[in-house]
Amino acid sequence: MMMKSPQIIQLPKFLDVRGNLSFVEQFNHIPFEIKRTYWLYDVPGGECRGGHAYWENQELIIALSGSFDVVLDDGLEKTIYHLNRSYYGLYVPKGIWREMENFSTNSLALVLSSTPYDEKDYIYDYDEFVRLKHDDKI
Ligand code: TYD
Repeated sequence: MMMKSPQIIQLPKFLDVRGNLSFVEQFNHIPFEIKRTYWLYDVPGGECRGGHAYWENQELIIALSGSFDVVLDDGLEKTIYHLNRSYYGLYVPKGIWREMENFSTNSLALVLSSTPYDEKDYIYDYDEFVRLKHDDKI
């Protein structure tokens, strides 16, 4: 399964009068093995999360509840993805600057990651990120 660019992935959904069900499987719906899962919650209005890129980590971001925007930047252009359904995931490959903002009240962002947490995998300096992209180093 090859996937190199950011994209919205529609996950399976089983609509049921008892309540709906969705799921995600590694290598089936996403192109990586899940090594870590974390979630963002109780985000106060107006706050912004993220604001970095990863050298290696890939991820799938799902709005399990509520809604928020994910702004992706490949060093050339920015694209805003509005996530507001729990059966859509945004695939973010490595080497993309990403920010999350406009969280609705009680929103819950689930992130499936391809690597364990590693501080050294982060690029926090936007100018450095753009330079690395420009030089084809990331
Ligand atoms: P950080 O990735 O900086 O948050 P944001 O998504 O806003 O960029 O993470 C915030 C803090 O949480 C940081 O001190 C590291 C810690 N953290 C972990 O220990 N493990 C994790 O998997 C993540 C995502 C963060």
